[in-house]
Amino acid sequence: MPEYLFPPDFLWGSSTSAFQIEGDCQNHDFYRWAIKGHIKDGSNPNDAVHHYRHYIEDVQLLQEMNHNAARIGVEWARIEPQEGFFDEAALAHYRDELMRMKALGLKSMVTLHHFTTPLWLADQNGWFNPQINDYFCRYVQKTVAFLGDLVDFWLTINEPNTYAAESYFRGIFPPGEKCFWKALKIGKIMSRVHCQAYATIQQVYQKENWPLPQIGWSLAWIYFLPASGSMLDRLAKQLIEKLFVGTYLKKVQNHLDFIGMQYYRSDLVKFPLINTPHPAGEKSKLGWDIMPDKFYLALTECWQKYQIPIIVTENGVCDDHDELRPAYLVKHLYHLWRAIQDKVLVKGYLHWSTLDNFELAEGLSCRFGLVHVDHESPERTRTIKPSGRLYGEIIKQNGFSQELLERY
Ligand code: BGC
Repeated sequence: MPEYLFPPDFLWGSSTSAFQIEGDCQNHDFYRWAIKGHIKDGSNPNDAVHHYRHYIEDVQLLQEMNHNAARIGVEWARIEPQEGFFDEAALAHYRDELMRMKALGLKSMVTLHHFTTPLWLADQNGWFNPQINDYFCRYVQKTVAFLGDLVDFWLTINEPNTYAAESYFRGIFPPGEKCFWKALKIGKIMSRVHCQAYATIQQVYQKENWPLPQIGWSLAWIYFLPASGSMLDRLAKQLIEKLFVGTYLKKVQNHLDFIGMQYYRSDLVKFPLINTPHPAGEKSKLGWDIMPDKFYLALTECWQKYQIPIIVTENGVCDDHDELRPAYLVKHLYHLWRAIQDKVLVKGYLHWSTLDNFELAEGLSCRFGLVHVDHESPERTRTIKPSGRLYGEIIKQNGFSQELLERY
């Protein structure tokens, strides 16, 4: 019996998003952004990973790693390639993927929006279009009516806080704007749309007489610490927490069955609002501070503040040679286990990511997968990494031993 045992019905799995692994889609704004030269290594999501072609073997990989759950994304730009036209073949594709997951006994989580916007909407002011509520909910209604009987958990929008920061403040995701006011405003828009989408999903299930699913959204959850003991830095930490997470939960907390927590790292905050890395300590290839103990703090503080069940919908590390990932995984799971012992209601853990994927502004030059993808080979050959095997063993035992923890 492992010393660090998880609850019997704990969800164990990994996460992906549609556009970061599917390939073969030129119909969304991230593709257009990529071919305009905004990606560090010059790669683009259309040529990446080819999960759309290889989804059958990719579902098998989940089973090989003993998953009992998995998060996938569906691509709005495929499902509704032109305004008001819904592509049944795309929906049938996702239906087949979900049926295969179900046949293997996997619980499914599906993300409806993960950073990409169809071109037809991007060209009409994107999320600032006054009809965004109607557009998004119409897409949600069609998709949920087609797939809902196979889905256990829905995520309406992935990381609206990152979307606001990267698309409208730092300008490194499309549409590449740098406007503080717009970054604030998009948060409000997405919160409103989330609440409407939450109701839309429930209505579809009620109409179809299906048991209600769990609906949430996911937030990037950096654990902030003041850069010094000065009052100004402490104030800056409070403010950034409020802007980055607080406002996103306050507005939607009555429309969340769970919070999707996406924890990767901890940052220091300096006055007025500058987040910087810690001066020392272990870092990932992206320079992110690896701080598993802050994961425990993020989980416990989140539960104390909001009392909404948590599912860890992302946690992982950029590490090209799988040198950091095994220890990263075990240490983060240890701190997650501690939080559960302290009565924090965490229902599951989905590692980011199943496969080496198209890592946003970094492109293909940054690997997050439990499964290696040979980006050069025509078949994009997949190989489970040692961390993927290790994770599979942990899942099989529903925990891990003291000996394993000490090894890392
Ligand atoms: C995003 C993913 C991304 C990951 C690693 C999260 O912010 O949801 O799309 O790949 O972090 O950067």
